[in-house]
Amino acid sequence: MATIIVTGAAGFIGSNFVHQWIAQESDSVVSLDALTYAGNLANLAPVDADPRHRFVRGDICDEALVARLFAEHRPRAIVHFAAESHVDRSIHGPAEFVRTNVTGTFSLLQSALAHWRGLEGAERDAFRFLHVSTDEVYGSLSPTDPPFAETKAYEPNSPYSASKAAADHLVRAWHHTYGLPVLTTNCSNNYGPYQFPEKLIPLVIHNALAGRPLPIYGDGSNVRDWLYVGDHCRAIRAVLRGGVTGRVYNVGGWNEKTNLEVVHTICDLLDAMRPDPAGPHRRLITYVKDRPGHDRRYAIDARRIAEELGWRPARTFETGIRETVRWYLDNTKWVADVVSGDYRTWVSRNYSDR
Ligand code: NAD
Ligand code: TYD
Repeated sequence: MATIIVTGAAGFIGSNFVHQWIAQESDSVVSLDALTYAGNLANLAPVDADPRHRFVRGDICDEALVARLFAEHRPRAIVHFAAESHVDRSIHGPAEFVRTNVTGTFSLLQSALAHWRGLEGAERDAFRFLHVSTDEVYGSLSPTDPPFAETKAYEPNSPYSASKAAADHLVRAWHHTYGLPVLTTNCSNNYGPYQFPEKLIPLVIHNALAGRPLPIYGDGSNVRDWLYVGDHCRAIRAVLRGGVTGRVYNVGGWNEKTNLEVVHTICDLLDAMRPDPAGPHRRLITYVKDRPGHDRRYAIDARRIAEELGWRPARTFETGIRETVRWYLDNTKWVADVVSGDYRTWVSRNYSDR
């Protein structure tokens, strides 16, 4: 039976991807994750008992470990999610972003190249290195700019997006120089189950349920394109199945919203699903000091993946956000477990001087 290796599999998107993969595909999965603050083994509980899934705790920078996994499992692909992923954390502490996102990707590319060079015939032809990246590498749009196409020049503005941009360039170079069969996806903001409550949507749900302030950076008019995580995972599977090696695929929801619109939607859903006797949840909205270098707007032109691979988002924002709020209401134990002491330290660091 064929195998794929998934890095960052205990994080938000990685775990959703592994659940979907085990449900929809036949290959086995080896999940590699260092279990940082963002990685949580409980995210993989739904596939725990499946004989096709195996979890390995380890760092993507550990070349000896990665080489051993390649030799032992002879994967047909590696799907690379592992990263430091939160812009605000990258502002407070960029070093770990350079280590994991840049050095870690470099290290994985080296291991994958050594493995691929040892393959022959059909096995060599079929091998893929799929690098999961973000729309943030393209920079910030004005309200009237066209959405990001794959040809847009890179203009990363945060330590996070700069480290992802650096990784994207390495992946591109390993294809052009060494011929490694790579694929890159650049996706917009994801939301859905198992997202750590440091990102906007789960943070707002978590705070609203506790009656705490809902912090809006600046005036709340920054725009993001939001995509349900399951649709992103389907897009990655489509690119892995049919994408042209060396090519980049932008993935997005055709769903631009201001932050304030997103927060209002969550508040209104909570008012209907879990009314607060103290009053409407919108009363908790609090404007706080803006994020330094805050990108104004992201939007994705997802025509290439639609035209070449037939992928389109299946969920609208209205259905996806409703399911997501429901998931957080139904999974309070998961939330309580991840918001441990370490989470509280982060919240006080990020919000106390705003
Ligand atoms: P996440 O922070 O929830 O998960 C990251 C995972 O990587 C965690 O499980 C963590 O333990 C693991 N990890 C971190 N450093 C590691 C290391 N050195 N070795 C091994 N594992 C390590 O992130 P996410 O939101 O699931 O994002 C996954 C990927 O998708 C990232 O590459 C991110 O840049 C990209 N992406 C995210 C979004 C989004 O909206 N969340 C959008 C587009 C692209
Ligand atoms: P985030 O979820 O951190 O994703 P990204 O910065 O990668 O887009 O933030 C989404 C948007 O929400 C972004 O414009 C910043 C804003 N935001 C707030 O207004 N308040 C918050 O507490 C957080 C975490 C984000």
